[in-house]
Amino acid sequence: MKKIGLLTAVLSMIFVLNVFAQIKPELDPMKPRVPPDMIGKAKALKPPIPATPENIAAGKELFNGKATCFTCHGNEGKGDGPGAIGTAVGPRNFTNAEFHKAKSCGEMFWVASNGSKGVFVKKDAPSNPEGSGMVPYLNGHNSDIGLQGTPTVDEAELWKIVLYERSLGGGKCE
Ligand code: HEC
Repeated sequence: MKKIGLLTAVLSMIFVLNVFAQIKPELDPMKPRVPPDMIGKAKALKPPIPATPENIAAGKELFNGKATCFTCHGNEGKGDGPGAIGTAVGPRNFTNAEFHKAKSCGEMFWVASNGSKGVFVKKDAPSNPEGSGMVPYLNGHNSDIGLQGTPTVDEAELWKIVLYERSLGGGKCE
């Protein structure tokens, strides 16, 4: 009897987490997350490696492995990972082609390196006035916007991940 109770509790928790992750909305993914005084530099960042199938596959492995991106962005990059429960706003869905048209690879690399304050968080999530869109993941780099990071990858690895994320929505890193 006890076992059944526990099982029911665990199953309900998984259900709640799932529903929660799926319904936490993204804030407008088309709007820049890089502050205006830094966006020129961010857009100019280009991958030092080409988007070959090998580099994209390596990026996928990092994304779903030691880089931990999958915990929030989901195993397929749809923005539906359970880690979203701890973020102020919904994680980006990288399968959205419109997002890739609106943003450059440089901006994506910049946000993964420096984090995002969730520019619009104040208005939309008053319970978290400072916001935590995303924290920085680049090893040995101090966030230009003063966020505390969880470094998991070096520059070469992060570029591979960006190439992978880009491939999910048909975007190129020209
Ligand atoms: C703890 C949860 C979490 C993890 C782990 C995470 N992200 Fe995010 N990510 C977010 C959230 C939330 C947003 C949306 C932020 C916003 O709207 O400002 C986001 C947005 C992004 C964006 C979109 C930036 C833009 O301009 O719209 C990129 C690129 C990104 N993440 C890359 C990564 C990469 C690469 C990793 C792994 C190294 C990663 N993320 C790991 C939560 C996470």
